[in-house]
Amino acid sequence: MPSRLAVLASGRGSNLQAIIEHFDNLARERIAKVVLVASNRADAPALIRAATASIDIASFDASDDGSTLLDLLRKARVDLVVLAGYLKRIPPMVVREYSGRIINIHPALLPAFGGAGMYGARVHEAVIASGAEESGVTVHLVDDAYDRGPIVAQWRVAVETSDTAESLAARVLAVEHIVYPRVIEMVAILQQLEAKTTA
Ligand code: GRF
Repeated sequence: MPSRLAVLASGRGSNLQAIIEHFDNLARERIAKVVLVASNRADAPALIRAATASIDIASFDASDDGSTLLDLLRKARVDLVVLAGYLKRIPPMVVREYSGRIINIHPALLPAFGGAGMYGARVHEAVIASGAEESGVTVHLVDDAYDRGPIVAQWRVAVETSDTAESLAARVLAVEHIVYPRVIEMVAILQQLEAKTTA
């Protein structure tokens, strides 16, 4: 049985698109499928991408204690929660129930250039301002603190001397689209193995 993925996204949804395409294109038995795309913003372009791919969508009020989100995840029988440009904090209630089963992608090499307020162009501006020669992509498990959970995978991207925040962001994003779907696949396989060995 494929793992059931929920993707939470607040914005453009290019990672969501890469994830949908990756699992649609897998020739072998499908490891996972996106069963729900949910957003705190009813007008998020990510929801349009999901609807176009005939995936169930939902927008929800993220200002409660997490019960609305938890209800959505339970009803869709979600195995793994994937954050892809989701800008709200995951409430403790949801983190507890999905402990070890929520992953996020960050467009830099955590623990550097992460934490509250570090998203979008700000991340790449900070990397360039620091003079770092490398940036990259981090996939990590989500716990109660922003960008602090255990790291699952990282991929390095060189910072060129001519880089602007925009050019660096574009190169990092292209790597995200390759790395994230494959790491999700790996996490889903490991979850399935674990479920078999503990059954
Ligand atoms: C990505 O850079 C991701 O690393 C970060 O938010 C951005 C989302 O982009 N968490 P998109 O909505 O997937 O295009």
